[in-house]
Amino acid sequence: MAAGIGSGKVILFGEHFVVYNLPGIASGLSDQTTATIEGGEPGTGFSLVDNRPTAPNYKEKKREEMQRQFDALFRYFSINPEEKPVKITLGGNLYCDSGIGASAALATSVSRAFNEMLGSGMDDDKINEAAYIAEEAGSGSPSGIDNTCSVYGGFITFEKNKSGGPNRIERLSIGKPVEIVMASTGIAQETKAVVEDVRGKKESDEKWFAGIVKQYMYVYNNALKAIRGCDWKTVGEMMDKNQELLREVGVSCDELERLIKLAKDNGALGAKLTGTGRGGYVVALTPGKELQERVASAIEGEGFKAIRTSIG
Ligand code: MEV
Repeated sequence: MAAGIGSGKVILFGEHFVVYNLPGIASGLSDQTTATIEGGEPGTGFSLVDNRPTAPNYKEKKREEMQRQFDALFRYFSINPEEKPVKITLGGNLYCDSGIGASAALATSVSRAFNEMLGSGMDDDKINEAAYIAEEAGSGSPSGIDNTCSVYGGFITFEKNKSGGPNRIERLSIGKPVEIVMASTGIAQETKAVVEDVRGKKESDEKWFAGIVKQYMYVYNNALKAIRGCDWKTVGEMMDKNQELLREVGVSCDELERLIKLAKDNGALGAKLTGTGRGGYVVALTPGKELQERVASAIEGEGFKAIRTSIG
């Protein structure tokens, strides 16, 4: 039996901006998806056992997208389940939901398991290539930040290569992991549609968008410096500023704003939407177990799901 893992992801700075080749900062989560692969019963083709913990309706909603991901991976690894049956079992502790990198974690874990099964000897860069191809098949033309976090884990800076070559990735070392809380709105969003909406706004007012980009670069540069110095107070302030820009771009919503306020009122150093927006998750920076617990409990007290995890 062959096995592989893929981390969930959280974007701390730069969702939507990374689509336009601007740099972003993100991290793999300590929560992961696992994939094991074994030969299936003769004549069964491809069979899937999905034991991942998931948000209600997540698996239903993602059924077709997941099938496209698997088909792309079968093609990439030249596997034909009709000839040689394959049984894939997914598990792990990553709670699968919109905004947490669940599809990237699936693509990464399955790529790693196929690599082990076939003895292909792929390094992380090649695994990242396979995972991106699966992500692309699943949801259009993503920037690649999600699968990059899922493969490398830890803190990274990410910049999409304008000319289509390898993306610029720098691994950031912060010593010891930092606690965060991920709070779910319970609203699923389709990344492709929201990205296209932002693109439409940008194209109808390039001058306005250029002004936002200028402010974003100020946020990014300060955040990067602060992360390198483990200055979490400044990182939190920059997250709040990044949220203001995302609000202006039109990807926040009432539920996200409510969760952000709850996190901030309970002491989070910073809080913003993470990922696609208009639903999905808020990430709150809560260094230390005590602060993490206070923020997570306040969120749960209002009836929302909170995930206690760490980055870096
Ligand atoms: C989605 O997790 C992040 C977006 O920036 C889209 C992408 O980077 O492909 C919204």
